[in-house]
Amino acid sequence: MGGGAGCRLLGLPPSTGRKGTEVTDWQAWQESWDRQQEWYLPDREERFRVMLDMVEALTGDKPRVLDLACGTGSITARLLRRFPGAVSTGVDLDPALLTIARGTFEGDDRVEFVTADLTDPEWPARLPYDTYDAVLTATALHWLSADELRALYGRLAGVVRPGGVVMNADHMPGEGTPRVHAAERAWTEARRERAKAAGALDWEEWWRVVSAAPELAEQARQRFEIFGSHRDGEILPASWHLDTLRAAGFEETTIAWASLTDALVLALR
Ligand SMILES: C[S@@+](CC[C@H](N)C(=O)[O-])C[C@H]1O[C@@H](n2cnc3c(N)ncnc32)[C@H](O)[C@@H]1O
Repeated sequence: MGGGAGCRLLGLPPSTGRKGTEVTDWQAWQESWDRQQEWYLPDREERFRVMLDMVEALTGDKPRVLDLACGTGSITARLLRRFPGAVSTGVDLDPALLTIARGTFEGDDRVEFVTADLTDPEWPARLPYDTYDAVLTATALHWLSADELRALYGRLAGVVRPGGVVMNADHMPGEGTPRVHAAERAWTEARRERAKAAGALDWEEWWRVVSAAPELAEQARQRFEIFGSHRDGEILPASWHLDTLRAAGFEETTIAWASLTDALVLALR
């Protein structure tokens, strides 16, 4: 976080370097991103845990992982904490989030970050490895349209080694229960308002803080040029993901975790 403005805006003490010069605490920025995401997803850690359980079960404890649409690298952070022998490549298009990610993992040669647009058919050519044991992604692919995601799943079948796994945790609402979902939406809205009243930052507020921090302001300006506030793709049910992954060439597909609104789909190559 900004040694200066970022820390102050988020109510944290600024960190200082030699002779009182302020240094950027990227780890604190990463943690503030996690808090903001948890405002939307209180069970975010649980789905990460299940993801990593399945990585271990299917590929062992030294996996080569692709953290797809990595944001600030939250999956990579949890992966390396749990499996110090893992390596990770993070891919994203957002210059501000990638700056936080690169700052957080600076000097860690297990980690590389790649700037790429996942809707560009050529993006896999930018990866440092030909294949991966696991591709992990969370709360991201609903930014794509169904056609873009179908094409992406097809490309992932070429990126994951035979026997490797793709896992996608995202909004995948259950089907055929409109009254249950309406009640859940109202309850969630009330929970979020309570958290906001207690000081939690939502997406817009978090980006306002980022845009006001000198160490990230230019990258934030660039990301708003690329994405606007948020790019809305399609929210598709888990059944669509399972069918589409099968059609893309994955031999086994299943739901590894689910709530009323979200699911973690797993596809074994
Ligand atoms: C809500 S964030 C989730 C980030 C991270 N997976 C996490 O759980 O914290 C969604 C991410 O998807 C990325 N993204 C969306 N569309 C993309 C695209 N076409 N190419 C690359 N990244 C994309 C965004 O830049 C953003 O970092």
